[in-house]
Amino acid sequence: MTVKKAVIPAAGLGTRFLPVTKSMPKEMLPIIDVPAIHYVVKEALDSGIDDIIIITGRSKRAIEDYFDDSPELEMHLAKKNNLDLLSMVQEISSLVDIHYIRQKEPLGLGDAVLRAEKHICDEPFAVLLGDDIVRNSTPCTRQLIDIYNRYRCSVLAVEDVPEEMVSSYGIIKGKNLEDLLYLLEDIVEKPKKDDAPSMMGAIGRYVFTQEIFDSLKKTSSGVGGEIQLTDGIRRLNERQNIYAYKFVGRRYDTGDRMGYIEAIIDSALDQGDLRDDLIAYMRQVVVR
Ligand code: UTP
Repeated sequence: MTVKKAVIPAAGLGTRFLPVTKSMPKEMLPIIDVPAIHYVVKEALDSGIDDIIIITGRSKRAIEDYFDDSPELEMHLAKKNNLDLLSMVQEISSLVDIHYIRQKEPLGLGDAVLRAEKHICDEPFAVLLGDDIVRNSTPCTRQLIDIYNRYRCSVLAVEDVPEEMVSSYGIIKGKNLEDLLYLLEDIVEKPKKDDAPSMMGAIGRYVFTQEIFDSLKKTSSGVGGEIQLTDGIRRLNERQNIYAYKFVGRRYDTGDRMGYIEAIIDSALDQGDLRDDLIAYMRQVVVR
């Protein structure tokens, strides 16, 4: 059985992005004119996923509205004969059927994933964090699914993180099996620099076997009273092999202010109608 379902947790409070996240989900912050979560949904579809569950919370209506039909806007654009914009708007709502599950309280990423258990049933599934964007011709989730198909085990995407950032990540200890691929030996949530078992941090892309739900249920609240996904992964690793894959691509943490700015700049540099103007402007301000 291959991976056809994905869970996108998007119910966090986004405190690093206050005050805007007081009334707006951070997953809807625009990378110029496209919300971050659009790229995440697109990555799932481009990886062969055809069933998406978004975990939402309070103040997250904007996500549902974004992926829904918008009859008034569509009628307006049709009346004005603005067919390009009309087809762009219609394409978004026809991307895929999305199911929404509410996480009543933001009790952690592990709890958010657990909310999807009934919908996933007994299949392997992908998890894509709603505020992490990865750019690459082969989508990051596809890369993980390819590893899953070889080993039929859970897989985490990891990348080297700067030394001063290890305390912000789940850091893995792994046995190198081949280029880019590791067998997970341990994972530690947000370790101090001196306690980190490596410099490889888990980013927001995973493929899990169904047994992750059992492991999460047995996981009590950890750091900050939240159910940590990392603790569930550790527990799962006691019963099953888990792999860590150094994915190929460029990842942006758009829930972090600098990561968000980088995502916007790189996206503008990729767009023919913005690139030259942006470079000219940057030259002007940097020289100033
Ligand atoms: P983060 O830790 O980056 O999200 O979780 P956060 O808690 O919203 O952010 P800060 O640190 O307060 O700024 C990663 C992903 O997990 C989701 C978030 O929405 C984000 O996409 N999440 C987190 C949940 O769905 N539920 C939670 O209880 C916590």
